[in-house]
Amino acid sequence: MSAAARLEVKDVYAAYDKADVLEGVTLSVAPGSITCLLGSNGSGKTTLIRTILGLTPPRAGSIRFGDTELAGLPTHKVVAAGIACIPEGRKVFPKLTVEENLRLGAYQEAAEATVAARLAHAYEIFPRLAERRAQLAGTMSGGEQAMVSIGRGLMSAPRLLLVDEPSLGLSPLLVKENFQIIRRINEQGITVFLVEQNVHQTLAIAHHGYVLQQGRVVAAGSARELARDAAVHQAYFG
Ligand SMILES: Nc1ncnc2c1ncn2[C@@H]1O[C@H](COP(=O)(O)OP(=O)(O)O)[C@@H](O)[C@H]1O
Ligand SMILES: [Mg+2]
Repeated sequence: MSAAARLEVKDVYAAYDKADVLEGVTLSVAPGSITCLLGSNGSGKTTLIRTILGLTPPRAGSIRFGDTELAGLPTHKVVAAGIACIPEGRKVFPKLTVEENLRLGAYQEAAEATVAARLAHAYEIFPRLAERRAQLAGTMSGGEQAMVSIGRGLMSAPRLLLVDEPSLGLSPLLVKENFQIIRRINEQGITVFLVEQNVHQTLAIAHHGYVLQQGRVVAAGSARELARDAAVHQAYFG
């Protein structure tokens, strides 16, 4: 699998009922980068992730990943193209053990040796999960559940990881740890599309970013440029 696939979202419209939630979103995630999408609550961040994954298919527009057009594909084919998601709110399976949760992330991989190698890799990143592999995920702390969720995302050996608001509901210390882990994962060659409200910590690890407001991209630039963009702060984050 080549790592060099760009995600290109072009003029995407998406709706749940009649009114569009995404109104012509265009953005690009360079291979190897951490690219972020900043936006306040309700701006359409999760909807864009759902649209990329084929859960809320776009009403119009194109979503390309390398040479593959994702718009119109069912979710399992999007996943098979090398995309994984760490959902908002982490969403572990509470009645399954840590290891069962992780294994579910590799459901498309039949070869046990491959799954075992990926498990070993996840446990290397999260030694805490190795210690707790037989514990029910629902009995872990919020920070540990975040590790389970990230670990599960890695189990399909994705080329592109979509991360939906990993900071939500975590203490500042855990947010910092989580973001360091996301950075490490990126350094191992996985492209990251990070969707967040937390401007400062996100721009500290991102290379490039976009700002979403009411379903439209209203600013774009390098993380450094966005961090300096006082107008962006004033207008959208107070
Ligand atoms: N399942 C749904 N059905 C109808 N409207 C929805 C649904 N999910 C989200 N929305 C609406 O779409 C808009 C964007 O929501 P969302 O993408 O979740 O924003 P964000 O993730 O940026 O907080 C909001 O107005 C929200 O109420
Ligand atoms: Mg959201």
